[in-house]
Amino acid sequence: MSARKIIIDTDPGQDDAVAILLALASPEEIDLLGITAVAGNVPLELTQKNARKVCELAGFPETPVHAGCDRPLGRPLVTAEHVHGKTGLDGPQLPDPVMPLQSRHGVDFIIDTLRAEAPGSVTLCPLGPLTNIATAFKKAPDIVERVQEIVLMGGAYFEVGNITPTAEFNIYVDPQAADIVFRSGVPIVVMPLDVTHKALVTSARNDAFRALATPVGIAVAEMTDFFERFDREKYASPGAPLHDPCVTAYLIRPELFSGREVNVEIETGSELTMGMTVADWWGVTGKPANALFIGDLDADGFFALLTERLARL
Ligand code: BDR
Ligand code: CA
Repeated sequence: MSARKIIIDTDPGQDDAVAILLALASPEEIDLLGITAVAGNVPLELTQKNARKVCELAGFPETPVHAGCDRPLGRPLVTAEHVHGKTGLDGPQLPDPVMPLQSRHGVDFIIDTLRAEAPGSVTLCPLGPLTNIATAFKKAPDIVERVQEIVLMGGAYFEVGNITPTAEFNIYVDPQAADIVFRSGVPIVVMPLDVTHKALVTSARNDAFRALATPVGIAVAEMTDFFERFDREKYASPGAPLHDPCVTAYLIRPELFSGREVNVEIETGSELTMGMTVADWWGVTGKPANALFIGDLDADGFFALLTERLARL
């Protein structure tokens, strides 16, 4: 089977960084056409720079990185320095990138790429707020039916929320954008907190990254050391959840994951539950499924894949 063409839309973020590294390390399965940065964990100025730092760390400075939207569609930007640190990528000391930022806007890159490639051959992989994707769909409605699939990290059902009691960060930051994407009719695979909270970097798993003894392995271990302090305190869990790499791991080994086809709607009206992903897990509404909502993964298989692939870089 030929490698799947994808665009990663991202707000790095340590876990975004690991998701990008996994994609770059997996050319048999993933053909990364480009990266679009969005404002999220930290402002756009930092996320686009962090995306380039990660490409250079991986040894892929030719990867086209584009800056996209600098704020959500209809709300002020909410960021997460309390999790990811001031730079968004705190932990390792990575040099400032020398590879260029592409001049084209990220939204135009998404539109142009979907128009240039064969219909149904490009998968979008959002790892942050859905602003760039929704803006592209609004600006160029003809591209919507050309998307093969959207595989995204966002939302929660049983785990409910992490930034508010009822909302996961990526969806909360731009609920209007998420609403557009979930109503688009494009096949969607969702990696919600329900599954990512099972992808925990225990000490042993982080030691395995460090033991690679490569710049990539050491940087990933240092990133995890940094952001897991937050999750260990918050959830009293044995390690930090590696949210975003679930997206790229799914493209490589979908059999590691299981979930249900359900209807998902986004709360955009109530301030109390803003950004909630209302997933009809028990099929009580009779509304048609619009997403494969993942609930479980083979965590050992996931970390074995990750370690094996990071070792290649
Ligand atoms: C999501 O929010 C960000 O902090 C992470 O990078 C991940 O994409 C988890 O809620
Ligand atoms: Ca992210």
